[in-house]
Amino acid sequence: MTTSANLAISVKGIKKSFQKKNILKGVDIAVERGSIFALLGSNGAGKTTLIKIMTTLMKSDSGQVLINGYNVQDEPLKAKTQFSLTGQFAAIDEELTGRNNLQIIGELHHIRNIDKKSEELLNAFNLREAGSRAVSSYSGGMRRRLDIAMSIMSEPSIIFLDEPTTGLDPQNRSAMWDLVKALANVGTTIFLTTQYLEEAEVLADKIAILDNGFIVKSGTPEELKRSLPQGVIEFSFHKDDDLLRSKELLNHFEQKENLDNLSLTIVTDGSMEQFSKIFNQINNADIKIAGFTQKLPTLEDVFYTTIRENEV
Ligand SMILES: Nc1ncnc2c1ncn2[C@@H]1O[C@H](COP(=O)(O)OP(=O)(O)OP(=O)(O)O)[C@@H](O)[C@H]1O
Ligand SMILES: [Mg+2]
Repeated sequence: MTTSANLAISVKGIKKSFQKKNILKGVDIAVERGSIFALLGSNGAGKTTLIKIMTTLMKSDSGQVLINGYNVQDEPLKAKTQFSLTGQFAAIDEELTGRNNLQIIGELHHIRNIDKKSEELLNAFNLREAGSRAVSSYSGGMRRRLDIAMSIMSEPSIIFLDEPTTGLDPQNRSAMWDLVKALANVGTTIFLTTQYLEEAEVLADKIAILDNGFIVKSGTPEELKRSLPQGVIEFSFHKDDDLLRSKELLNHFEQKENLDNLSLTIVTDGSMEQFSKIFNQINNADIKIAGFTQKLPTLEDVFYTTIRENEV
């Protein structure tokens, strides 16, 4: 059950405009402790703006944000002790090594076993060799990884990650995913934004789509996918004659055949009525099917359908 007591983050009615441009028009979000939450939205939708408001870097025009129960507007200092935000260490010390940068964060936050923790993070982020070099010699991807490692070093209860894997190669992206999952497993709450729908799908317990100032859709990846019509069916056949007869029989549907694997894809409205009509027609025509599958919409389908619906 979701009560405000087990919420790590509660966002209610957040509004923000810049020079009369309404960017956030009343955003509501609830994130449970220890869960991974992904915020999706097109460029300029207001994701970073919302993260800035949630992390005390910017004031909202109205609405309320609670971080582990602390109101960010009224108790910003207490709220700040609850989370870390990547990107906030833009002031990585260039002269120091990656390892030293991590150790300093550990000391600032009175972390125990600083050396052990630093080594673990350097390993996890593929920075073991680079850990002994000055950060000034790092590539963009290495800096990004160090930045996230520094954010984790402080052992926060909540981590905000604004596009954590942008600019990372596939190998480091996948290492990042493993780490995010591991953090959530030990009870850390993760709030992330991403441009990669696959990332949201792999990681998130809950996803929300921000569009035109509002959260226009939210739920588990499965719930979002189930919110679209499940209308695409793929039939497979043993003989090409069966395939061609079915194609003719069902020519009033949008369809696509694949003669290589003897399959026929039909787009229906997802209703039981249409499904049973199709199966009856095939059966009555004495056509033998080898099998059929109902194709689930992808998260990408959900994202683009939602954003398009919201435009009109
Ligand atoms: N300080 C500011 N002053 C004026 N306009 C701003 C300011 N900060 C953000 N904006 C505008 O608010 C809108 C939302 O920006 P924001 O950076 O929050 O979007 P985003 O969803 O994070 O986009 P992206 O996917 O590109 O990171 C944009 O139109 C941006 O130009
Ligand atoms: Mg952004």
